[in-house]
Amino acid sequence: MIKTDFSLLHYNSFGIDVKAKRFVEYSTVEELKNLILSGDISEPYFHIGGGSNLLFTKDYPGTILHSRIGGITVVREDVESVWLKVGAGINWDRFVAYCVDHDWYGLENLSLIPGEVGASAVQNIGAYGVEIKDFIESVETINSFGESHTYTNADCKYSYRNSIFKHKDMKNVFVTYVYYKLSKIRKFTLTYNALRDEFEALSVRTLPEVRSLVISIRKRKLPDPNILGNAGSFFMNPVIRKSRLPEFLKMYPNMPFYEQPNDFIKLSAGWLIEQCGWKGKNMGAAGVYEKQALVLVNRGGATGTDILSLSDAIRKSVHDKFGVDICPEVNIL
Ligand code: EPU
Repeated sequence: MIKTDFSLLHYNSFGIDVKAKRFVEYSTVEELKNLILSGDISEPYFHIGGGSNLLFTKDYPGTILHSRIGGITVVREDVESVWLKVGAGINWDRFVAYCVDHDWYGLENLSLIPGEVGASAVQNIGAYGVEIKDFIESVETINSFGESHTYTNADCKYSYRNSIFKHKDMKNVFVTYVYYKLSKIRKFTLTYNALRDEFEALSVRTLPEVRSLVISIRKRKLPDPNILGNAGSFFMNPVIRKSRLPEFLKMYPNMPFYEQPNDFIKLSAGWLIEQCGWKGKNMGAAGVYEKQALVLVNRGGATGTDILSLSDAIRKSVHDKFGVDICPEVNIL
């Protein structure tokens, strides 16, 4: 399907009203290959997922691509594990719900994350102590020349909210299927304090109960993009050298931080932003969510530039107060 001057309003969770010169959607690998061979995908182009980690700042002058490749297939299974092949265009939370219904463990902490399966492998999505990289076996792709290539988990070079697919020179590589390995043996990840506390207090025992608990924690902290436009965490949590920690703790004894390998620590961008007084504040129609300062919201009718101006002002405040640079997690177009 090819459309021209297409409104992207329903293809970005910020609810920014911009147009793409061309919009191309495909449902199979063959369809994508045909589009490529017939020259329908020419520069400039950009492949989106669910648009839940994206900020459009102006009309897109080229082609926006979107996958509708579906299908959840069991590739193999044994007593302990199941290996799945999943289409990139499937809604992420629908896939998590499917796994929970089938008693497959691993993805329940990632319930209700907006977006699609393809983006889970690009973005290395994570929440409540779980990152998707720990469940991905491989990623099947097609590039803009129509060539297929499968990347192993190691090839993907996963790190915090990052993968090889986010590099500029990988822009022409489109994810078609993601292969996951999940567990059939009951085990939960309870390293996130709030989740563990409620798990214990409520005597939660089953996989659907854990999913419900994660959904309820998420709903309490994060705005529903269908009601208030947002893209989840707008910034990544900054990773800095551990040698700077004493200086910070002297001034802010309650500052949250998380140990990282190789003498690094991760700070909480939400905490830093809140200390700068931004929580619940607005700049025009762009705002900082009142329950989680890491989330920027569209209060109604904001443009991408409004959100970007707010982001720039926040980054400057955090830099001026703490000498720490925070970088957007959201892709800005
Ligand atoms: N905090 C504040 N003020 C705030 C927000 C947070 O002081 O406004 C403090 C909290 O009190 C806590 C710490 O910062 O001590 C961490 O907060 P939280 O547990 O809410 O997590 P986060 O680091 O702000 C990350 C992810 C979220 C994910 C949660 C839970 C990133 C960029 N964000 O947020 O992911 O849901 O942990 O695992 O890593 C997303 O990527 O879109 C996203 C929502």
